[in-house]
Amino acid sequence: MVNNELPVALIGAGGHAAVCLELLRRQKACLLGYVSPVPSEDLHPQLAYLGSDDILEAYKPEEVNLVMGIGFVVGSDLRERLYRQYRKRGFRFKTLIHESAVVALDAELKEGAQVMAGAVVQARAVIGENVLVNTRASVDHDTIVESHAAIMPGATICGGVKIGEGCFIGAGATVVQQVFLGNRSVLGAGALALKNLPEGSYAYGAPAKEGRHESHT
Ligand SMILES: CC(C)(COP(=O)(O)OP(=O)(O)OC[C@H]1O[C@@H](n2cnc3c(N)ncnc32)[C@H](O)[C@@H]1OP(=O)(O)O)[C@@H](O)C(=O)NCCC(=O)NCCS
Repeated sequence: MVNNELPVALIGAGGHAAVCLELLRRQKACLLGYVSPVPSEDLHPQLAYLGSDDILEAYKPEEVNLVMGIGFVVGSDLRERLYRQYRKRGFRFKTLIHESAVVALDAELKEGAQVMAGAVVQARAVIGENVLVNTRASVDHDTIVESHAAIMPGATICGGVKIGEGCFIGAGATVVQQVFLGNRSVLGAGALALKNLPEGSYAYGAPAKEGRHESHT
């Protein structure tokens, strides 16, 4: 169980970190600072720079919660890798729900899930650990989104869909009802997935067709 009373350290200092910080400030979260290889001039000037990843050695997991401020980049596993590393060390990740998001009462959000501004998560949906449901995306009833997947702005995931672990759903893409996307598949921006996609696949277009992507492993 995550103790939501603890202060928060933000991991990352880029665009997604800025979005998480905005949400945390609105919710008047107690912010310890941010962790990044180098200080950023773009984050809020009053947010303390804690140092690079090693700085968390100075804290006990019972003293601080983490927020994953690193976005999902196709071909990079940084978001997932850091999440796993910190969890292994006992740190806990705060679940974020923007005040303008709608999350059904019987939807389930697992640790570190992030539901950003204007997003909708419908009845009986399950949003896995470290999953990002980004700005104005929607996840409809009975859909399961497995750990570390990311649903980018404006994407529409219909009912009864299964999105495998580490999948990336591009901005504005649509996945129709009952479709299964295998683990670590990538659906490009604006794509329309009408059929299941196998694990590790890479597809784009409407209707989505599989293609190759060298950097996606
Ligand atoms: C699918 C995607 C990952 C492909 O990236 P990539 O492998 O680097 O592809 P490239 O940019 O080299 O493009 C290769 C070809 O596919 C086409 N293509 C790429 N993405 C496409 C898409 N989403 N829809 C249609 N065609 C696409 C390109 O036009 C290009 O065609 P060409 O060879 O005829 O010029 C990427 O384009 C994409 O959709 N990313 C999602 C972006 C997003 O949602 N960002 C959210 C940020 S919050």
